[in-house]
Amino acid sequence: MTEKTLVTWHEQSVKRPRGCVVWFTGLSGSGKSTVANCVDSMLYESNQRSFVLDGDNIRHGLNASLELLEPNHGLEFAKRFGLGFGPQDREENIRRIGCVADIFCSSGTITLTAFVSPYRSDRDRVRAMVIANGNDADFIEVFVDTPLEICEQRDPKGLYAKARAGELKGFTGIDAPYEPPSNPEVHLDGSAPVEQLAEQVIKYLESKNKLRK
Ligand code: ADX
Repeated sequence: MTEKTLVTWHEQSVKRPRGCVVWFTGLSGSGKSTVANCVDSMLYESNQRSFVLDGDNIRHGLNASLELLEPNHGLEFAKRFGLGFGPQDREENIRRIGCVADIFCSSGTITLTAFVSPYRSDRDRVRAMVIANGNDADFIEVFVDTPLEICEQRDPKGLYAKARAGELKGFTGIDAPYEPPSNPEVHLDGSAPVEQLAEQVIKYLESKNKLRK
């Protein structure tokens, strides 16, 4: 790249009330997606506008891997834009999805994201951006705190077994770090029943007036 890009911000005509970003973080298998989807169902039933952005799904499209991009775009392109699980690739994964979540938030949606997001600095950057575009109450970090042993017992995708066998390198919790949030807005005991955890999140949203009347 040699050219500088020159772009300017265009203000939107409609000023909508912002939604919020409910950022679930935790180990693979901790229950992030399950709880986020349960919250989403409950909100949908009560006519709230909400949506789940899920790591595994986003990595099929927007944040696809080299392997997924290569057939349609060629190797050079796939190497440049495909995302894996190294620290920098996770940083870009979280940066992109943080931007998408902020766009959803600005559309008035209660945006539930379920990404491992193991690095504190990546999560804090998203928090700072969302807050800068709205206010302090717009970013709600939810730590799904499930001990590694339980995640490993659950192993819904068989990835812990692969990581232990050395077939999968850089797996969070095994040979890649997970940095827990130091001060999450909501701290969930991931070994409790899903509905109970979802209720805890809904109660928090209610207490912060995040639900529409
Ligand atoms: S993140 O670290 O960049 O936030 P993300 O949430 O998008 O990760 O994707 C995590 C999912 O990808 C896991 O639930 C798991 O199914 C799968 N996965 C594959 N390889 C890894 C890995 N090395 N570390 C963690 N998760 C992985």
